[in-house]
Amino acid sequence: MIIAVDGTLASGKGTIARGLAAHFGLPHLDTGALYRAVAVAVLSAGDDPADEALAEHAAKTLDPANIDQHAIRTAAAGAAASVVAAQPRVRQALFELQRRFAEQEGGAILDGRDIGTVVCPDADVKLFIDADPQVRAERRWRELVASGDEIQLEEIERQLAERDKRDASRETAPLMRADDAILLDTTHLSIDATLAEAVRIVKNKTGATPGS
Ligand code: DC
Repeated sequence: MIIAVDGTLASGKGTIARGLAAHFGLPHLDTGALYRAVAVAVLSAGDDPADEALAEHAAKTLDPANIDQHAIRTAAAGAAASVVAAQPRVRQALFELQRRFAEQEGGAILDGRDIGTVVCPDADVKLFIDADPQVRAERRWRELVASGDEIQLEEIERQLAERDKRDASRETAPLMRADDAILLDTTHLSIDATLAEAVRIVKNKTGATPGS
């Protein structure tokens, strides 16, 4: 069983994907972390994330088992990730890695922006998670502040608008809801309520039971 969870920045898609993975006993890949790790590799080498050849090299040599989970969560890493994610050669290099993960025996859950449309158009269940931009900005701001980033909420609102625009308007694999994806709007839903709804959708579509 392959489950594709796509959605906007800070919509809650990662939390939902992790919750579904735990519930159904499936391996989970946060594909945004791959783009973030490529960005961090380029930045740490002192290079420009807009340089596609360098970013492609970082994508091809990325070891997904060795991603520094702290370094990829900063606002700077997120901004640079959105730049490398617009580069077709980076997307191609990461596509192969994601596809291998999706094809493992027993199935998998992947979350990102183009899982239901590009990486796993064959997914058994496709969810598209979204929420009001103001609510998403506040969620991301709280996360960053909790991890020690001293960023202002207004700055996050500005970055979020810019990144939403870049993710949706890039030529290669723009953020798009697949025709057969089910929309989950988390603006007024708690994490528990959203996860319960996602579990219900997966069960309805596949008949899957916990741990199966
Ligand atoms: O979900 P996130 O904030 O960790 O994603 C980081 C960046 O990577 C974001 O700009 C969108 C991009 N991304 C993408 O283009 N395709 C994916 N499958 C996952 C993330």
